Amino acid sequence: MVKVLVTGGAGFIGSNFVRYALAQHQDWHVTTLDKLTYAGRRENLHDVMDSPRHTFVHGDIADAAVAGPLVEQSHIVVHFAAESHVDRSIAAAGDFITTDVVGTYVLLEAARRAKDLRRFVQISTDEVYGSVPTGASRETDELKPRNPYSAAKAGADRLAYSYWATYDVPVIITRASNNYGPYQFPEKVIPLFVTNAIDDLPVPLYGDGGNIRDWLHVDDHCRGVDMLIEAGTNGEVYNIGGGNEVRNVDLTHRILTLLDKPLSLIQPVADRQGHDRRYALDTTKLRNMGWAPQVPFDDGLAATVAWYRDQPWWWRPIKEQDPRFREYYQTRYQGRA
Ligand code: NAD
Ligand code: DAU
Repeated sequence: MVKVLVTGGAGFIGSNFVRYALAQHQDWHVTTLDKLTYAGRRENLHDVMDSPRHTFVHGDIADAAVAGPLVEQSHIVVHFAAESHVDRSIAAAGDFITTDVVGTYVLLEAARRAKDLRRFVQISTDEVYGSVPTGASRETDELKPRNPYSAAKAGADRLAYSYWATYDVPVIITRASNNYGPYQFPEKVIPLFVTNAIDDLPVPLYGDGGNIRDWLHVDDHCRGVDMLIEAGTNGEVYNIGGGNEVRNVDLTHRILTLLDKPLSLIQPVADRQGHDRRYALDTTKLRNMGWAPQVPFDDGLAATVAWYRDQPWWWRPIKEQDPRFREYYQTRYQGRA
């Protein structure tokens, strides 16, 4: 059996990756290591939790006593665990440094000791390039992160690289664009707007709504990571982008139209501090290796909206009962208009 450790596997992308990996690779045993923060949920793995090829470990990547042995026993590590929400990093950055930077350091130290490690995939983000007014970021471009989340991720990204350059740890680094799909925590724009609109609640659009994100279906992201585990070159960085650049206001219109809801639900609110205007990725490197996104944005968005509409069991407990979510939103829009 190939022993695969997935950190953050109870989160949005991690849980989709665990499901994908177990289905694709009958010879993989996947161990999920997850702290189950507000964003991590056992429910995200409901259909694979009890698979004989899956083990769930409730623990912190920054806890060397827990994370170290798991890394040392692995052939492949796919490191998704992070604090991931930009707005939370603007409100309080501490957890982002502890998890995204220090947690990554703890895993990398263990990776130095691992005897059979073939690949350590550092899941980075397109946000490390900063706001990109024109053109598309290439892997060799300067990193100019502009918020505490993306700065912490850039630190982890370069720390992972340094462990390859210095200690020959078999690191590759992926930088993906905005993911969308099922099991995304409803603080991120698509699930927040979809679930608010379902309940005829306002959807809070930041600033002038003209910010642009490049949307990537989470399945296409999983396919890219999977291919790179096999075909990547240690020490290299790979952009993974959907090629679907959409202004937030247009995304909002599409969501409301798919749900047959009025545009009057749009509530303009004050802008995010330091709000990056645009992200865009040049994906030539990955495409030259044979990867291309397979999910057209229209189809993927419609399926995603339908998933949230049809799976209230998944999101209603978060929005209605989870005190950690209610507290966040009680303070979220104070002082905003
Ligand atoms: P998420 O917030 O949905 O999930 C993060 C998971 O990590 C949760 O299950 C959480 O419990 C776990 N976690 C947090 N701190 C931990 C710790 N100290 N120890 C163990 N587990 C911990 O995030 P996501 O959107 O699935 O993002 C996953 C990764 O992909 C992150 O590294 C993020 O930076 C990166 N990424 C995300 C996107 C996107 O659009 N969502 C795009 C590019 C890159
Ligand atoms: O680009 C990759 C990044 O995408 C990942 O690295 C992050 O982990 C992930 O959270 C995501 O970051 P964004 O900040 O782009 O995602 P978010 O869903 O928070 O916001 C998307 C856009 O929508 C952004 O321009 C801000 C805007 N927005 C967001 C929220 C939550 C709103 O207008 N209103 C909102 O309520």
